[in-house]
Amino acid sequence: MGSGHGRTKGLLTQPLTSTASILIRNVLAPTDRSSNVTDAIRIPADLLPADGRFGSGPSKVREEQVAALAGVWQSYLGTSHRQSTVRSQVGRLRSGLASFFSLPEGYEVILGNGGSTAFWDIAAFGLIEDRAQFLTFGEFGAKFASGVKEAPFLGDPTIITSDPGDAPSFRAEPGIDAYCSPHNETSTGVAITPQRVTGADAGSLMIIDATSAAGGLAVDPQQFDTYFFAPQKSFGSDGGLWFALMSPAAIERAARIKASNRWISPFLDLQTAIDNSRQNQTYNTPALATILMMAEQVDWFNANGGLDWCVARTNESSGIVYDWAEASSVATPFVSDPAKRSGVVATIDIDEAIDATIIAATLRANGILDTEPYRKLGRNQLRIAVFPAVEPDDVRQLMRSIDHVIGQLQ
Ligand SMILES: Cc1ncc(COP(=O)(O)O)c(C=O)c1O
Repeated sequence: MGSGHGRTKGLLTQPLTSTASILIRNVLAPTDRSSNVTDAIRIPADLLPADGRFGSGPSKVREEQVAALAGVWQSYLGTSHRQSTVRSQVGRLRSGLASFFSLPEGYEVILGNGGSTAFWDIAAFGLIEDRAQFLTFGEFGAKFASGVKEAPFLGDPTIITSDPGDAPSFRAEPGIDAYCSPHNETSTGVAITPQRVTGADAGSLMIIDATSAAGGLAVDPQQFDTYFFAPQKSFGSDGGLWFALMSPAAIERAARIKASNRWISPFLDLQTAIDNSRQNQTYNTPALATILMMAEQVDWFNANGGLDWCVARTNESSGIVYDWAEASSVATPFVSDPAKRSGVVATIDIDEAIDATIIAATLRANGILDTEPYRKLGRNQLRIAVFPAVEPDDVRQLMRSIDHVIGQLQ
């Protein structure tokens, strides 16, 4: 595993003085400018983070997780997912998650293939009875809502929207049987606090897309019926699976819909996933490496103090980024309300005088990866993910690196 310092070696053949880089900036045409400036700015090694992965997913996988996988390459990898070697890892992961989230009696950890995107459709087929209410405040929440809106077997959902950078609130509405929202909108860096809706119909479910929130943001399981996520964010593993923490009410809802005459795509059948998960299996073949690396991560979390420890770490790291932006003359937190700022995905607007794409590209050329904003947001912005695996000291170094780059560009 190379450190950030190691990765930067060889990217630049010779260091350039800041005078040289200013010359390049002034002389080059805009189209040539970005790649040449990017290549010209070399961040001093003592400012670089030890690990340069700040992506919003896939995110940093720790060396220990990969070593654990390498340690079982012959006894686990390439073996049947229906046998006990693999099923015991699935079981380890399910019970690790149950204790990590302090799941109340009767809640179950369900999993299947297809990532969180598959779970949007699974919810449409097997959890929403007729009419859902959605909060949408970014790309991911909007996609979940639009899939349900198009489902011909469901009633028209209510969709409550706010502009990117803000988040709306649920309102109790007769006839709504599922309230659905992202916990953390990865595209904008806005987080809400999942909370049951006062005055909602009895039996209505709270369904939370926790893809980027789970493991890094505080949550009270009493406040949700389904909290679904994927392994490639806080759990520092690979994508492709979905996990859903389901309350007894949600499990009962899935069984009831399954027993009705409604057609359910077999691959997206939640009851099939529940039945398989109870046996520590998935309906079809899962990625074994993902399961093991995620189980390692959950055990690491639990050994260090569980969700509280993770949240303290992400708060510390995101606080470093937001404090830096508040103090900067060229940067501002994109989310103006501090209460809505995500503790795991920090979005920072950059003054228009400086091209944030050049900052991100320069960081990339120096081994600091994936600080680009969400592509469709279209802002002059950096997006920095600080999931629990990211060392707060690396975030401090990242801000020093960014200061260095901005200093060179000004
Ligand atoms: C909030 C949210 N929901 C859903 C998804 C889709 O997840 P997947 O890629 O596992 O399908 C993402 C991916 O980044 C996300 O951030």
